[in-house]
Amino acid sequence: MGQKKSEVICFCNNISREEIESAIQNGADTLNKIFDRTTAGVGACGGSCRRKLQPMLEHYLKTGKFPEKIVASGGKRRKKPRTG
Ligand code: FES
Repeated sequence: MGQKKSEVICFCNNISREEIESAIQNGADTLNKIFDRTTAGVGACGGSCRRKLQPMLEHYLKTGKFPEKIVASGGKRRKKPRTG
């Protein structure tokens, strides 16, 4: 099925999902190791993509697979302001 492998996870350093996945598969089992290996998560924005790295890593450590869809963790959910 057409899974997008070229999805960019870290926009600061232009790191693709594929690069992250291969780093994790090659033994990066903490966020710090992912930072070291790929430079994702340590870019100019201060690491907003960590919210995606984290669930990818956790999912992989739990299941041995990567999630089909990455749902960013953390962050506040905004409620729609009431009108009227
Ligand atoms: S998007 Fe990854 S560090 Fe900014």
